[in-house]
Amino acid sequence: MTASQRRGSRCWRPGVAGRPQTGRRHELSTTSHVLESFFNQATAQSHLQSTPADCVLALAPLMLDLLDNADTFLQPHHYRSSDVSYTRNLIYEAPDKGLSLYSLVWLPGQWTPVHDHGSWGVVGVLEGVLEERSYVRLSPDRGSDEEIDLVRGGIVLLRRGSVTSFVPNPDHIHVTGVPKERARAVSLHIYGRTMNDFNVYDVEARTRRRITVAHNES
Ligand SMILES: [Fe+2]
Repeated sequence: MTASQRRGSRCWRPGVAGRPQTGRRHELSTTSHVLESFFNQATAQSHLQSTPADCVLALAPLMLDLLDNADTFLQPHHYRSSDVSYTRNLIYEAPDKGLSLYSLVWLPGQWTPVHDHGSWGVVGVLEGVLEERSYVRLSPDRGSDEEIDLVRGGIVLLRRGSVTSFVPNPDHIHVTGVPKERARAVSLHIYGRTMNDFNVYDVEARTRRRITVAHNES
């Protein structure tokens, strides 16, 4: 079993493979009862459920409720964006690094690279239409970063209020973003660890590499 497989083997496992962007912890605002309730329930479920699949099964309905009440806790800085790339704004990071919540802002034409996650995750769309283009791995994952065969799979269009999820082992591989002809999209992402690194894939070269990803602090 690889390190990434071990990270995803239990949904409560923090699985911090890399150094966080900063050493700060992000405690919940006491004025945000909606967010506090969400994380109380999410933390309880992430400890209660024994597999990542059970974890996202339990948390997806919580994300639906969080989307409905997002205006009670989202602040202007959670909508920060950049002309350079899509933007990740940290909303909450659990002290044990076992949960994290981000708002992602996608301007027209901004996409992720082809990537996986090394964690379970639940995604909800707040604004716009978020597009997901999936890849299917044909070669077995024996832990090598080479000789990886991917083919393009289906796409999903997620409108406001939509919730999707993924689990590791085998990890979900995809690109996510907004075509240039569509309007800005904003989405909420909760992960089973601090999401500060993940694998990106070069489909033509049949390789992957681990990258550290930046985010804005709350
Ligand atoms: Fe992703």
